[in-house]
Amino acid sequence: MNQKMDRRSVLKSSLMTFGGISLFSTGAFANVPLELDASERIYHSPLLRENFLESATIAPKSMVRINANENPYGPPMTARKAIADAAAGGSRYSWRELETLVGKIAKKEGLTPKHIMMGPGSSDLLEKTALVLFQNGGNVVSADPTYMSLVQVAKATGATWKAIPCKADWSHDLAAMEAAIDKDTKMVYICNPNNPMGSITAGAELLDFCSRVSDKVPVFVDEAYLELAVGANTQSMVSLLTKNKNVIIARTFSKIMGMAGLRVGYIAALPETLDSLQKITRGGMGIAQTSIAAAIAAMDDADFQDMTRKLNHEVKTYLCENLDKMGYKYVKSYTNFVIFPISMPGKELLSKMAERGLMVRSYDLQGKPWCRVSMGTMDEIKQFVSALQEISS
Ligand SMILES: Cc1ncc(COP(=O)(O)O)c(C=O)c1O
Repeated sequence: MNQKMDRRSVLKSSLMTFGGISLFSTGAFANVPLELDASERIYHSPLLRENFLESATIAPKSMVRINANENPYGPPMTARKAIADAAAGGSRYSWRELETLVGKIAKKEGLTPKHIMMGPGSSDLLEKTALVLFQNGGNVVSADPTYMSLVQVAKATGATWKAIPCKADWSHDLAAMEAAIDKDTKMVYICNPNNPMGSITAGAELLDFCSRVSDKVPVFVDEAYLELAVGANTQSMVSLLTKNKNVIIARTFSKIMGMAGLRVGYIAALPETLDSLQKITRGGMGIAQTSIAAAIAAMDDADFQDMTRKLNHEVKTYLCENLDKMGYKYVKSYTNFVIFPISMPGKELLSKMAERGLMVRSYDLQGKPWCRVSMGTMDEIKQFVSALQEISS
């Protein structure tokens, strides 16, 4: 093995243990090696590469983590108490608690429990759906750039990927996506609002697309950030299930509910779709009883969700005002992160931010470097703004 190969494998394995940061956000997982391009950036798509620091190992606790779109205010106090109360029941399987959670979710979504499958985070269900749908190959149609978890597993399972560039405003190009569907298409994947752009695709247009296209192929809509989309002209696609449309809607407790580390997510789909997934997973079996209890409590904690939405919006407004002052042209965000082009190489940005105790993300998109920053607390974003002012001057 030559030295270059050696170094590349070391890089790959160090990324694998990078505090879950790259794994988490790239959607890669342990048995799928990360793909690096010739400049040793993580290859996400024809349009999107991610820069990373070769020196980075596990991030020290003292770093400000504004790189993984986490909710800095969670978990809610009500969920923390529920975890403590549930701990004593940890010697038992949690079928009953799971049933309670599923029932609560079904009621909220206006569906039956048979329409809901739980998982340890929505990533797990994105991946399992890809494993089942692409077991005999086929292709997946999605936007580029988008969140890559499902697409990566589809590719690893043997599917090909039809990457459809986003429109100029970074919304999904639904007409081009529909035109890309062929006889081998097994699924269309939509992430709305989209990660890593933070952009939105209009609700009425998307509803019409999902309703029509799902008569041909299943449409998977990842709504991880939907509850944070303040002022957006969009909506959940979940209502299509009451019309028996073949859509699969993914939701997570990691964002608005502030429970990323507790690992709870679900998909809502037609019961027959979930039956096919049951062949390889029992979904909720992967969730700890304490996390189920936390999820039940968090669902009832409207105050926490309102507070998150409000603070996220305030912090984002503060950030955007400062980006405006500094002349950065950010993409309007309907999420808890903001992405904007920068004028220095992505790796340089990462290391200058790291020197100042800040962890952010950097992509090369359409050949230009970009910074993606997640909404931490106001104090954390103030630190980010000062650091950006310093390194931009
Ligand atoms: C669009 C999107 N979907 C799904 C996930 C995964 O979330 P979970 O923590 O539920 O696995 C993320 C995480 O950042 C995401 O950005």
